[in-house]
Amino acid sequence: MSDNVKTIGIIGGGQMGGGIAQVAAVSGLNAAVYDAAAGALEKAKALHGKLLNRAVEKERMTRAEADAALSRISYVDSLDALAGVDWVIEAVVEVASVKKELFSTLTRMFPDPRVVLATNTSSISITDIATAAGDEASQQRVVGMHFFNPVPVMKLVEVIPGLATSDDVVGRTVALAEAMGKTPLRANDRAGFVSNRVLMPMINEAFYAWMEGVAEPEAIDGIMKLGCAFPMGPLRLADFIGLDTCAHIMNVMADGLNNDRYRPCPLLKQLVTAGRLGNKTGRGVHDYTTQ
Ligand code: 3HC
Repeated sequence: MSDNVKTIGIIGGGQMGGGIAQVAAVSGLNAAVYDAAAGALEKAKALHGKLLNRAVEKERMTRAEADAALSRISYVDSLDALAGVDWVIEAVVEVASVKKELFSTLTRMFPDPRVVLATNTSSISITDIATAAGDEASQQRVVGMHFFNPVPVMKLVEVIPGLATSDDVVGRTVALAEAMGKTPLRANDRAGFVSNRVLMPMINEAFYAWMEGVAEPEAIDGIMKLGCAFPMGPLRLADFIGLDTCAHIMNVMADGLNNDRYRPCPLLKQLVTAGRLGNKTGRGVHDYTTQ
């Protein structure tokens, strides 16, 4: 187990936060998940039960191990109920102002300098989020801990220090990711880090190829799956991630890297405007309502 971390407080019980809680619990840590949205905690709990049942059916763990993991997850509907955790991972909406407001609260809620304040942001500057945490000493314990969807399956945690993050915090983040069964890899604090800097322009280009009539979505996805061994084609992956998230990350990179070549493709923007956000709304590039 990584240093003395026993309980992780996870803020946000959606796809990412819920997945992080599950991985933490399976690796022997306690996870306390907080979400303010109505029904979010019930949904996360039901999904944990379902996924761990499937793991038992597939003989990847015993019933007793699954039950023990489930008993290590608590679901709390107030931020104050996270008091006493050893580590915080924020996985709320990708809006800088929301994250910054939260981090200004977190430093006050967790005055112990050993409590690391990690963010699962996919592209927002860690340095910027850290400024909301307060003085230099507070900023030292803010770090990027970027998990990938689906969290129980994807092996990577991208570890991103901000300008002020201490080496000790980076080392402990690497150790915690390893204790959670993940492979941590370091990236520096530039918009999009490495993962989305490389992935999102590729997805964006797939939208341009579709918009310009180079091929239809099925062919674009099929070509990349069969020719380049992608598990999902780029347009299918965009639906999986969420088209709004893809467009948002492109804009964060365009602003953060001062380069309009990262602006989202007009067709991607149009689908977002129409509310076709992908799996979560039932329709994006592809239609999931009939499946
Ligand atoms: N949670 C837990 N486990 C899941 C899961 C989920 N949501 N979805 C699938 N799995 C598991 C299944 O149980 C199965 O495990 P098993 O073989 O042991 O039973 C395994 O994953 C494979 O699932 P399926 O057979 O149902 O389907 P696929 O073989 O098509 O795999 C996939 C599904 C793992 C999602 C695969 O298509 C894939 O790897 N896609 C690419 C995902 C990707 O690129 N993710 C990164 C997105 S970018 C990101 O997250 C960064 C952010 O900042 C935007």
